[in-house]
Amino acid sequence: MKVSFYGHVRQYHNIQSEIDANIHTVLESGEYVQGPMLKKFEKELADFHNLPYAIGVGNGTDAIWLTLMALGIGPGDEVITHPNTFFATAEAIWIAGATAVFVDCDPKTKCIDPARIEAAITPKTKAIIPVHLYGQCADMPAIRQIADRHNLLVIEDNAQAIDAHGDGFRIGHLSDAATTSFIIQKNLGTFGDGGAVVTRRADVDQKVRLLRNHGSNKRNVHSFGFNSRLDDLHAGILSAKLKHIHAWNDLRIQWATRYTEGLKTAKTFTLPVVRPGYRHVFHLYVIETKDPAHRDPFLDFLTQNGIDAKTHYSIPIHRQAGFPWGKGARIVGSVVNAEKNAATCISLPMYPELEPAEVDYVIAKCLEWDKAHAH
Ligand SMILES: Cc1ncc(COP(=O)(O)O)c(C=O)c1O
Repeated sequence: MKVSFYGHVRQYHNIQSEIDANIHTVLESGEYVQGPMLKKFEKELADFHNLPYAIGVGNGTDAIWLTLMALGIGPGDEVITHPNTFFATAEAIWIAGATAVFVDCDPKTKCIDPARIEAAITPKTKAIIPVHLYGQCADMPAIRQIADRHNLLVIEDNAQAIDAHGDGFRIGHLSDAATTSFIIQKNLGTFGDGGAVVTRRADVDQKVRLLRNHGSNKRNVHSFGFNSRLDDLHAGILSAKLKHIHAWNDLRIQWATRYTEGLKTAKTFTLPVVRPGYRHVFHLYVIETKDPAHRDPFLDFLTQNGIDAKTHYSIPIHRQAGFPWGKGARIVGSVVNAEKNAATCISLPMYPELEPAEVDYVIAKCLEWDKAHAH
């Protein structure tokens, strides 16, 4: 059997008439950039988050650095995040001209460990960027408290956890803004690139709107800005998909539960941890081998058996030679948990359109590997 890592085409077929109808509407409207479909989707996205503002931008990376710039963060400022995330989280800090400071993640959830943040705060620190990694929210109440104590801004990198929530809190409600990515492989993904910022702050809404459109909200009048807009065609695709995101995430949770139940006896690897009261929307279902030496052979075994598994992320940002070290970017304290995660992580296929037989096949192959390697 072959089990793919993604279900994009199956998803398209499942709601093809809704997507095609919205594409047709945009094409017939004659308005493709900052047109009515984008406005409609921005309103739907804001309502979905129960927030007043949503701004569509070019991608999830732009969403972060446009927000940093909108909040006045740039050269000379430090932003705290963690190194076991997609490169873009730190890249966006770099693009904004600020300095990234990395602290370790929580060993269980892999999100930023709030207990590590205060040691990294200096007079230059302006913001914290927690990432809701793999689909589970970071500990936002603890992060909010630290931010309040030190007068810091908070930007949630929510590229991976749309429709998740924590125990008693929602995304975008305990921060200055939350950013998201709509690249195809995300839980809410378009057929290409896209991103958005959601916020409760009117000033952030206005500034991001200006920055994404050449500093202009009136024809021929400009201030400092860029071109980073979400096209109306993508907004139409996303508007069709947004109606399904909650049910799709429920299916992800269902497959995660099936994986966890099926794999609970494994001796050579550990399973994802869901915090009580949290809705983990399983952008990724990540297991970790107990022995780092097992990771690559286990991945090869899965691949040889037709299972497309991947790693997220096998090179943590502090080991990326391409990052501008030497301009103040640094690690504070040990990042042993992030290191361990990078060396042992394996992401199993996870998407709403999986079939029960596919999930059961992945479970069977994982158990076969486990049996052969457990002592
Ligand atoms: C955690 C995280 N942050 C930022 C991004 C950047 O989003 P994009 O690829 O849309 O620029 C991604 C995904 O690609 C991501 O997973």
